[in-house]
Amino acid sequence: MDKSPILVTGGAGFIGSNFVLDVLAERLGPVVVLDKLTYAGNRRSLETVEGRPGYSFVRGDICDAELVEKLFREYRPRAIVHLAAESHVDRSILGPGAFVETNVRGTMVLLMAAERFFTSLSAAERESFRFLHVSTDEVYGDLVSDAPAFDETTSYAPSSPYAATKAAADHLVRTWHRTHGLPCIITNCSNNYGPRQFPEKLIPLVMLRALAGESVPIYGDGQQIRDWLHVSDHCRGLRLALERGRAGETYNLGGGNQIRNFEMADRICALLDELVAQSGHAPHETLIRLVEDRPGHDRRYALDTGKAERELGWSPQIKLEDGLRGTVEWYLHNWAWVESVRTGEYRRWMNENYADRAAGSGI
Ligand code: NAD
Ligand code: TYD
Repeated sequence: MDKSPILVTGGAGFIGSNFVLDVLAERLGPVVVLDKLTYAGNRRSLETVEGRPGYSFVRGDICDAELVEKLFREYRPRAIVHLAAESHVDRSILGPGAFVETNVRGTMVLLMAAERFFTSLSAAERESFRFLHVSTDEVYGDLVSDAPAFDETTSYAPSSPYAATKAAADHLVRTWHRTHGLPCIITNCSNNYGPRQFPEKLIPLVMLRALAGESVPIYGDGQQIRDWLHVSDHCRGLRLALERGRAGETYNLGGGNQIRNFEMADRICALLDELVAQSGHAPHETLIRLVEDRPGHDRRYALDTGKAERELGWSPQIKLEDGLRGTVEWYLHNWAWVESVRTGEYRRWMNENYADRAAGSGI
């Protein structure tokens, strides 16, 4: 077991908390989390490892250069896995400032601190050090229905302020590899789903609103296609990228599950009909409503994962059907977690994003 920790930014978020739990369960060495605990961060997601040797939590901002430098000096990490971000497209449309600050400036602060730390390492330590930057398929823009999937050489064409800030961060990471010799790896993944996702994102949103008997808002015509990747498959991909990825390279991690939004909503409602028949709102699909579209809404994403298969030996293992059922069951069995995130901020967001959307018809 490696004694130097992995520094995980955004470790209290959806993917971050799953990654931290995964690394500790696999006994891959200590982990230090740096997280600002924005509305999307939740220490409850990490409560099962709280107080455990090999796990440390630091509440702080990745834009705080002094703090970040101090953490590198104190913990001397063998790698940084950078997940901290503002991550919701709709929020980036209404308030892009925080996205530029965290996703772009925060990434630069981390890169500068990592570079300084890297230059202080021995040749052997430099050989194994990695800066793993977690990015998204949204940097590539969108695809018409029969176009081939994005691969790692596809040009960037972001549509939303969120995607633009992730694209900017990716470009910065590449330059730090080329200009400063920092051993960076970028992974671009598709839409993740699974336990501990904040219910502003489609799957937990559909589930929790339907269970409460509230309307389930589907944007536009509901025909947009997303490629769904189970978060535990993603976390395994990140571990393999750290272990086997080549510095300076990018790897696409997609789930191979392309489905339309209305079909996803239908499937979740059908699972609720089966698992919570007594909710008083079955059949839950009658709650689905088409509402005013997201401006600039990307029609379709799809990733070619051939490079990750060849170089990392990675491919997704979890079938969408099994992963969705497990996800719905996780939320049902972890109701205290659900209540802990349905705070005032959740309700404020539901009001800000949905109250004035012209309601359409059911599907
Ligand atoms: P999330 O919104 O659930 O969590 C983000 C975490 O970052 C939170 O814990 C938050 O407190 C923390 N954070 C935000 N600003 C910070 C700051 N300035 N300093 C320190 N911590 C800060 O996000 P997620 O869904 O877990 O996504 C993680 C990463 O994966 C992001 O970089 C995102 O762009 C990328 N990604 C996510 C998906 C997805 O489907 N969820 C898909 C592709 C890429
Ligand atoms: P989301 O989970 O926000 O992820 P992303 O925008 O990063 O793909 O949305 C997934 C899809 O679901 C996307 O096409 C937008 C759509 N969507 C709705 O139709 N209604 C909603 O209320 C939300 C949040 C998303």
